[in-house]
Amino acid sequence: MRAATPTRLQSRLLDSAPSILLAFVVLATAAPLSAQVQVASVDLPAAVTLDAPTFYADVLPIIHENCASCHQPSGLNMGGNVAPFSLLTFEDASRRARMIASAVREGRMPPWSAADMHKGTFSNERILEDGEKATLIAWAEAGAPAGDPAVAPPVPEFLTAAVAMNGWTRGEPDLIIEFAEDFCLDDDLRDIYVDLPATITAEMLPEDRWIKSVEYRNGPAVHHIISAVGGLVPGAAPRVYDDGYSRVMRAGPREVMFNMHFNKEPGPGTAVCTNIQAGIIFKEPGEEISHVTGGNGLFIMPILIPAGASSYSASREYTFEEDVELLSFMPHMHLRGKAALYEITYPDGKHETLLHVPNYAFNWQHTYKFAEPPKIPAGSVLRFTLWWDNSEDNPNNPYPTVDVKWGRPTHAEMSQGYMNFRKMEKTAYVVGDGNFPAPRERRRGGDR
Ligand code: HEC
Repeated sequence: MRAATPTRLQSRLLDSAPSILLAFVVLATAAPLSAQVQVASVDLPAAVTLDAPTFYADVLPIIHENCASCHQPSGLNMGGNVAPFSLLTFEDASRRARMIASAVREGRMPPWSAADMHKGTFSNERILEDGEKATLIAWAEAGAPAGDPAVAPPVPEFLTAAVAMNGWTRGEPDLIIEFAEDFCLDDDLRDIYVDLPATITAEMLPEDRWIKSVEYRNGPAVHHIISAVGGLVPGAAPRVYDDGYSRVMRAGPREVMFNMHFNKEPGPGTAVCTNIQAGIIFKEPGEEISHVTGGNGLFIMPILIPAGASSYSASREYTFEEDVELLSFMPHMHLRGKAALYEITYPDGKHETLLHVPNYAFNWQHTYKFAEPPKIPAGSVLRFTLWWDNSEDNPNNPYPTVDVKWGRPTHAEMSQGYMNFRKMEKTAYVVGDGNFPAPRERRRGGDR
């Protein structure tokens, strides 16, 4: 992930500053530390250590709430993006204390890319409070003390449940999709991006069904996946459709494409064969589906990003023809993706920024889910803008001297703004009644 240069610089300054500076950070952010820190830090900076946060009392609760969904032993996947180590035990976390401090200080962890102005807007946001950040940093600076194991918080249920259910946090799937053959990576391979098909046979899925959830469980070296199955993307949690909401999984036989990114450290003995499992659970008969969740890709086409351009942008507008409630957005670009913006102008002329992603990261293509879906009256105009960095200053840019066009391979670029909304007009499907919306025409150009 890229961090802005000033942030790196600031943090390096912080690293080398004496502990008195740290004490002020702690103060200024009102960490849950005692007032003694305040007194001690003024006279005697070293005393910070005495009252330093401990792993069991202060750090582990923060890890459970903000990090454990990813950093756990089974390496549970978030849309294929697997955390490289567990942080659940004192041993696991303490040996990485400095790395943890720098990751949270520089905002790399927990991964989240919406601008600060959206705090509280998205139900799946991952944000550390200033006090929590300060606690993690102070703990690392104090040498990562363990404290008293007796005060450790209980292991959260989602972790025990995951182990109990063989890695499936939502329960055993009704349908599991995987590649017919493992995909093998040689010793000297670090990264590879490939489109791999998986087959859904008529036996696996004889009829259309309503989806309740989609979850991935992956083999080693799977870095991320983009596919049409439930729209799971890198860095995404299992996708769950609430009561009354669903979309249809069409019957086999057919193929589903998975746009895969495999990644590992190269070196002798690192060759590995791997696979994925997409586990799908369907809705129970009798549930009324009042809203078929729909979506639309706002494709900006055609695009041509000149070689060396550091902030090339393009936009398009989309007019809503009926009243909807917006459920989520997901901007999608490839390695040169830099920033994204969704703005709306209502029929009365009022204008609003619905989502600003100032630092887009290819590895973290978050879906931004509105906690309270904005109501969008017919006639509103959504303006969707993307920025790319095709210069050599972009460390992810494979070919800074080449103009780039839209294309499926990761070294080409994409320009999608996916959005999910529900039409205010209700539908009246009931799971099990055999009725489904007519299949949509396949739209060209999508990659999920
Ligand atoms: C959504 C899943 C997820 C969550 C939540 C998450 N991480 Fe991570 N973390 C990852 C993945 C995946 C990587 C490896 C890829 C990367 O660095 O982006 C990673 C890498 C790291 C690294 C090493 C790389 C670096 O940037 O220094 C640290 C340290 C880290 N995480 C700490 C944390 C801490 C502390 C929290 C909680 C405050 C946290 N993470 C929350 C998924 C997650």
